[in-house]
Amino acid sequence: MSEAGPAIEVHALSKRYGEFEAVRGIDISVHRGEVFGLLGPNGAGKTTTVEILEGYRARSGGEVSVLGQDPGKRSRALRQRIGIVLQSGGIYAHITPREALRHWASFYPKPRDVEEVLTLAGLQEKADVRSRKLSGGQLRRLDFALALVGDPELIFLDEPTTGFDPEARRSAWDTVRKLRDLGKTILLTTHYLDEAQELADRVAIVKDGRVLAIGPPRELGVGASHYRVAYRDRDGHFVERQTDDPTALLNELTTEALARGERLEELSVARPTLEDVYLELTADG
Ligand SMILES: Nc1ncnc2c1ncn2[C@@H]1O[C@H](COP(=O)(O)OP(=O)(O)O)[C@@H](O)[C@H]1O
Ligand SMILES: [Mg+2]
Repeated sequence: MSEAGPAIEVHALSKRYGEFEAVRGIDISVHRGEVFGLLGPNGAGKTTTVEILEGYRARSGGEVSVLGQDPGKRSRALRQRIGIVLQSGGIYAHITPREALRHWASFYPKPRDVEEVLTLAGLQEKADVRSRKLSGGQLRRLDFALALVGDPELIFLDEPTTGFDPEARRSAWDTVRKLRDLGKTILLTTHYLDEAQELADRVAIVKDGRVLAIGPPRELGVGASHYRVAYRDRDGHFVERQTDDPTALLNELTTEALARGERLEELSVARPTLEDVYLELTADG
């Protein structure tokens, strides 16, 4: 069914809560097999957008297509093709990974084999341990297993690592990469820049219900802002200069230093990062 089209297509999406317009005309298109990140501060409209795509919230305007269907129709057939990963694991604290997987698998028409999924997720040894006794990293593996067991094509992850310690966070990132390697399409939201940079093939920066920029994280960094050239001067002071033309600035600085018979200690050149662009775009005013 419509296998050729994009996984998600959103055109002029809007959402009002009473007088308040939380989403103000969003356009995005997510390709199949892509990890797409919605990056923005709290209140940007990320969850609202994702829940409309999941079919859990009604939109006020615009057009939305998810795997070729309108999620507003809340069809069971579409639900069975998408995966929604629970954020904290709290809901299945009293059951074991094997039980959780069997239960979850029963919602899907063509689930993967539960034993195979336990193995894939590295949970064979913990299959019969109550979930509340699992470590943070093991719980993330259970999330991964739950996302896999229904064999969905498209997976939504809303702030997948908010509140995680570093180990659980790394583990969640590995999970997302594994899902991508299996050919899944993933839409994730985050307010962490490094997370978007690490995981997303493309990012849409959102604020106040609008998309401010869209593209691969590396390319978003190139268009804006400045390169930073830094070094320690002869008095040991740290100097940082910004420039649009690092070649010329480096030539100038190194020529002067060499003429004096000196070295530019700790010399570095940094490309504008996604962070520079993000801060530039989302700055107030
Ligand atoms: N059910 C609701 N009723 C009224 N306002 C809401 C509701 N849900 C979200 N909002 C508001 O809409 C805006 C966007 O919220 P949300 O989509 O949760 O943003 P994000 O996920 O990016 O933090 C916020 O200002 C929030 O307060
Ligand atoms: Mg949110």
